[in-house]
Parts: sequence; structure tokens; C-alpha cells
Amino acid sequence: TPTAVVIPAAGRGVRLGPGAPKALRALGGTPMLIHAVRAMAASRGVSLVVVVAPPDGADEVKSLLDAHALPGGPPSGSWGRTDFLVVPGGSTRQESVRLGLDALPPEYGIVLVHDAARPLVPVDTVDAVIDAVREGAPAVVPAVPLADTVKQVEPAGTPGEPEPVVATPERARLRAVQTPQGFDRATLVRAHGTVTDDVTDDASMVEQLGLEVVVVPGHEEAFKVTRPLDLVLAEAVLARRRL
Ligand code: C5P
Repeated sequence: TPTAVVIPAAGRGVRLGPGAPKALRALGGTPMLIHAVRAMAASRGVSLVVVVAPPDGADEVKSLLDAHALPGGPPSGSWGRTDFLVVPGGSTRQESVRLGLDALPPEYGIVLVHDAARPLVPVDTVDAVIDAVREGAPAVVPAVPLADTVKQVEPAGTPGEPEPVVATPERARLRAVQTPQGFDRATLVRAHGTVTDDVTDDASMVEQLGLEVVVVPGHEEAFKVTRPLDLVLAEAVLARRRL
């Protein structure tokens, strides 16, 4: 079954501080989005990448992808055996993913959704997700155990005010979820057409349909670049890879 990846890259990245949209910020001199597309194209199972650009930035993102294709290589819209498409995104991550899904040609039966903000995910993680979907799971998420204990609180009315703790889930049973998340296409399309609640990951929409979601091992290098400190870590990981 041909596999496509949708990369939502339309976020502003407000928590990272002022500047360009997060996906277009540089990491080792190359935009984060380019790293993310390369990470997906590294998997032999991936034949199409759909990048969901900032609503007013689709042309810029298209040029950027063409500029990072191999010189003298394949025609515009392709990096060797991986084709790419660019579509304008929406005002929420969920809407951006749906717009990416709408752009998929019919032959792609497996869809991965990968955050542009996770530029350094290793190819083994991508392959593990694809393999689990191929083996029949309707939804697959890579995840890692937590270092911190997590507490559920009653959010304070005023920022900075102490917040009462409501519960402490057993840490050994918790996982921090990463991307790419992999899906049987029809399942993901149904989830996006049914669930309207605000969600932070695609798999939770499939859970809301009552379908099983399974976890495969993620990787510490698949962390999300969200705050300024994450950029420092990402630069260090890249530098280590280049040794
Ligand atoms: O904000 P957060 O880090 O959760 O964003 C995750 C991913 O969703 C990022 O790659 C971001 O660019 C993308 N996104 C999007 N459209 C939005 C908001 C976020 O494509 N409106």
C-alpha cells in the first residue's frame, strides 16, 4: 500500500519567541521543515510528502523545497523517489491536517502525520510506524516513557496562583507521544470528518471513534522543538550527527 505523509507546518511557533513561522526557522543553517521532509523521505516506504504551509506562504515553501532538492536532480515537485505537494494551511493544527488530507491522491492507503516541529526523528521510528500500520493497526503512535512525574491540576483562575493537585497518574503507565503517527487512511479521514473537539494529536480523534490505537517505541531525538531551549538541544543533536 503506498504511503503518504502530511506535515502540518502552518503554525506560528509563538512559544519559540518572535521571528519567522516555526517550520521555517533554521537548524544548522537549514529550515526545520526541510529537515522534517528529509526525515520522511529517508524512509523507503514513503512516496509522497504533503506539506501544509502557512496560509500565505505556500509559494515560498514550494520554492524552498525545490531549492533543497538535489541539484540537477528530478523535476520540480520531487526529491528522487519522493514526490511532494504544498497546500496552504488553516488556523488550527487540526484544520491544517484536514487540508493536507484533502489534497491526497486516491492511491495512498496509509497516511502518516508528522509535525514539522520534530525535524530530527530517526528513520527507524518512521519505518516502525509504517510497519505497524501495514500489519493491520488502524492507528499507530510512537511514544517514550516519561522522566517527570505528571500531576493533574485544577487550573488557577489567575496565572502564577498556586493550583490544587487533583491526581497523580502512575508514571510507569504514561507515555509521551511523538510523531509521525500512522493511520489507515479511511480511518483518519473518518476521524477528521467526525470529531470536532479541539485535540492536540490525530490519534486521539481515532480513540474518540472507539477504535484501537497502538504505541510503538519512539525516540528521544524525535522531541518537539517548542521553546528556545529545544533549539539549543536540536543544534547539539545535529552537530553530533555531523561528527
Ligand atoms: O503548536 P504545536 O507545536 O503543537 O504545533 C504542532 C505542528 O502543527 C507544527 O508543525 C505546526 O506548524 C503545525 N500547525 C499547523 N497549523 C496550525 C497550527 C500548528 O500546521 N494552525
